[in-house]
Amino acid sequence: MKVIVTSNYEEMCAAAAQMILNQVRNKPNSKLGLATGGTACGVYDVIVREYTAHKVDFSNVKTVNLDEYMGVEPNNEISYAHYMKERLFDKVNLKPENTYVASGKNDVAEETKLFNDRLNEGGVIDLQLLGVGVNGHIGFNEPAEELVAGVHVVELSESTILANSRFFESIADVPHCSITMGVGDILKAKKIVLIASGKEKMQAITYLLMNDKVSTKVPVSLLKLHADATVIIDKELADAVGYVS
Ligand code: GLP
Repeated sequence: MKVIVTSNYEEMCAAAAQMILNQVRNKPNSKLGLATGGTACGVYDVIVREYTAHKVDFSNVKTVNLDEYMGVEPNNEISYAHYMKERLFDKVNLKPENTYVASGKNDVAEETKLFNDRLNEGGVIDLQLLGVGVNGHIGFNEPAEELVAGVHVVELSESTILANSRFFESIADVPHCSITMGVGDILKAKKIVLIASGKEKMQAITYLLMNDKVSTKVPVSLLKLHADATVIIDKELADAVGYVS
């Protein structure tokens, strides 16, 4: 695992965005795995700025998103489909048919098949962007005795419902289930870029960076098994975990 420490959140986002932009410039028909969440917002801002300055072309790029809340319409403001449209899809020249965010409203078996079809179509993901939950989840693969390799529906932990409630009017509005890529799907990506900032992620990042262990109870630690994973964290988080580069 390669670890990059940046001086702040903005630089962390710029570094992750540069990796994505380089990927697309080097391979214009790249397949990108995309993430949502507060941390990724700044990454999309940089990508949109570069696109607006005519420095990158997404016309042949394909994207697949990590996850989506169950029971939520794609046009609902709380959906990850809406997040992606607002932050990226409507602002760059990605073709709508080349993007995929699972529908939380469709029949589960049908949606799982569609999700798998998109994951397999045209080869594996070239670069997967990842955030990390406060409890160490990736996608929505929550800490557990066993993790699921493929696409599945998962019940969200109390910790995740609480952490994500900041995006909702009240905690009661946070969906309790989501559909997510499995850890096997994530680890199949050729390249993984994980971003994390702020002290809230301290416990998960301490386990990731400060020991040589892997545990299904800290799903992000599975990145240690990947041949080309880059972890980008800001100084505040690096200092909190005691990581020295
Ligand atoms: C959400 C998403 C994850 C994301 C994580 C971190 O639950 N399912 O894919 O990485 O939480 O989110 P944030 O960046 O808002 O802390």
